[in-house]
Amino acid sequence: MRIALFLLVLASIALAQQPQPAASWTNDPKIEQRVQALLRQMTLEEKIGQLVQYSAGTPTGPGTGRNDYRELAAKGGIGSLFNLTGATETNDIQRIAVEKSRLHIPLIFGLDVIHGYRTTYPVPLALSATWDPSLIEQLSHLAAREASTEGVRWTFSPMVDIARDARWGRIVEGAGEDPYLGSALAQAYIRGYQGTRLDAPDSIAACTKHFVGYGAAEAGRDYNTTEIPERLLRQVYLPPFQATVDAGTATFMSAFNAVNEVPATANAFTLTQVLRKEWGFKGFVVSDWTAVSELMAHGIANTGDVAARKAFTAGVDMDMESNLYAQHMLQLVRTGAVTEAQINEGAARILRVKFALGLFEHPYADANRKIQPAPADLELVRRAAEESFVLLKNENNTLPLAASAKRIALVGPLADDAAQMIGAWGGKGDAKDVVTLRAALAQRLQQSGGTLSYAKGTDIRTTSDAGFAEAVSAAQQSDLIIAALGEDAPEMTGEAGSRTRLDLPGNQQQLLEKLVATNKPVVLVLFSGRPIVLNWPAQHVPAILEAWFPGVQAGPALVRTLFGEVSPSGKLTTSFPRAVGQEPLYYNQLNTGRPVLKVDLSHPPTNGDEKYHSRYIDEQNSALYPFGFGLSYSSFSYSAPQLSTASVSSRTLNGGGQGIHVTATVTNSGKREADQIAQLYIRETGTSVSRPVRELKGFKRVHLAPGASQQVDFTIGANELRFWNLDMKNVVEPAQVTVWVSGDSVSGNPAQLTVAQ
Ligand code: NOJ
Repeated sequence: MRIALFLLVLASIALAQQPQPAASWTNDPKIEQRVQALLRQMTLEEKIGQLVQYSAGTPTGPGTGRNDYRELAAKGGIGSLFNLTGATETNDIQRIAVEKSRLHIPLIFGLDVIHGYRTTYPVPLALSATWDPSLIEQLSHLAAREASTEGVRWTFSPMVDIARDARWGRIVEGAGEDPYLGSALAQAYIRGYQGTRLDAPDSIAACTKHFVGYGAAEAGRDYNTTEIPERLLRQVYLPPFQATVDAGTATFMSAFNAVNEVPATANAFTLTQVLRKEWGFKGFVVSDWTAVSELMAHGIANTGDVAARKAFTAGVDMDMESNLYAQHMLQLVRTGAVTEAQINEGAARILRVKFALGLFEHPYADANRKIQPAPADLELVRRAAEESFVLLKNENNTLPLAASAKRIALVGPLADDAAQMIGAWGGKGDAKDVVTLRAALAQRLQQSGGTLSYAKGTDIRTTSDAGFAEAVSAAQQSDLIIAALGEDAPEMTGEAGSRTRLDLPGNQQQLLEKLVATNKPVVLVLFSGRPIVLNWPAQHVPAILEAWFPGVQAGPALVRTLFGEVSPSGKLTTSFPRAVGQEPLYYNQLNTGRPVLKVDLSHPPTNGDEKYHSRYIDEQNSALYPFGFGLSYSSFSYSAPQLSTASVSSRTLNGGGQGIHVTATVTNSGKREADQIAQLYIRETGTSVSRPVRELKGFKRVHLAPGASQQVDFTIGANELRFWNLDMKNVVEPAQVTVWVSGDSVSGNPAQLTVAQ
């Protein structure tokens, strides 16, 4: 018996030492054993304590005003704190939890590490424009390394909400409008944060948010209601969430919004039926900030105890900041409204993640570890910015600038504003680390013997034109003007940053008009967290580069791009509208019964053929710059796609049979080496329900020398073809399929595939 026990212990040590695959914490018997053993020792109060979380630093929402964290930690009254950073600060409270509390259970410290912890890289919408999962994985790992150094082992990221409406401020935090791209990038974030082992000291737990439908907020107004029929929910909004479960995400966050009249934070259908039963998620769900108490404002609870019961029994394990689980859960169990088995389950999910992170063995941050971005980190962050820039217009090869470009005027409120470059959700990002466009350009021109005249011109949001004259005079004395214009990152993008207008804010367009009127070439460098309506610049400004909010290496990345040391290669992941009235606007729309591609707006519709279509009387339907679009300093051509077979049977595919092999040749037909993102799209017709006019089903970033060609390969199989059909089954149906491989969502030579019975 003793020997058997000894062997068992040896075996479990050996198991613990073996490298484990990424998701192993989800089914590790050793962790399960430890969770259950610990639960058996815990009082009901201690178990409930695990379900409670407070913000203990700079608040990121309306707070409870609680600050007795030390006392709570000492008696096992909290499971997690967030918004607290620094090895000393986190260790300090952790020491109380680990040394003073009865069962020595460590806290898990969380933070919104959204696009870097200290070394800030481009905002997530910008990162999505890179279409580069491996880059995103590396960046997320950098963030994890830095955050864990300061005791933060849990990030509230990635945000995988599909956003089809540019008015919504939080569009900046996600990967745009497409579920296929969104899923691929969501998995890259998880791999980067969580590493190959969650218990590595530089791995942090991810939190997939906001579950679910938050991005469909009506009219783009933050926190607003969403109505999403189940087919659309499953087809468009759920896939990136499921992708993160498949990649082993440790936690989920429930959203603020109501989904089909049921608040997401009390939604048993999404939180229990879909997330737990269908997808088998093993981690825990935290509510969004005070979302549990907001159930009262939603009108589904009149009192705090009912709100706590509804959220918890629907599947929200941890209460962020509402203080309602702490106040009411004990009583709810005593009255039988919540069972102790349910509490055990919730506490077990939280403890499982704590064990998986190795917090019991290593609860403290190593105070000797310091955040010191290595040159390679800064290079990575700069490359990320470069890959994220999207060249929207480049008439007469205005860009790249000649190496000899001598007299440049740099104008605009974003040319030298370091804090703005950090973007929304800056984490511990520091403006002092930022190299602005002005600083980098000045250095560049000093080296090359050029001159830089800088004038701010105006503020981001003002009506005063007091700075215009100086800007125009700087422009007049130069050969070329760079206008650095755009949004106010903390005010106009991110949470609570919804807009009803999508123009350049304040009087920036008037300033731009004055600059154009000098007749000097103008390059517009646009800093924004969302699509901006660019009709006027698109007509009058020769070059437009969308730079988003690029992070600490903004200046060097922009200067290298403007001077052509690297070609822009980013592609839009969100449609740029011509008018705000087109929103929500997205490429993967349904065709309608009366589709029209382009209308003649020069006169009112004169006959039925012109009039009775799904159209506006005053604007085109199409995006000004569509999904997938982005120019390069080179040019690329695509062959028509070749299919390995012209026909395949749906039965074969549904039975697990092989898909079709698709190839196309991409040629760099221009004069510069550059990256290009090849995109595979399909359209299915003849199906039981309408399918989008195009759907992304694959993408590849290729690097090509001038004149060089490369074959890109894709597979169209069951994963690509299946959809939630009329009977709400996720299957491949017989269909006629059009296939494109192209550089954006509107061009390309089609090929045909038949999916037969
Ligand atoms: C509210 C936001 O919706 C969420 O994304 C964030 O993680 C939490 N606040 C915590 O700061």
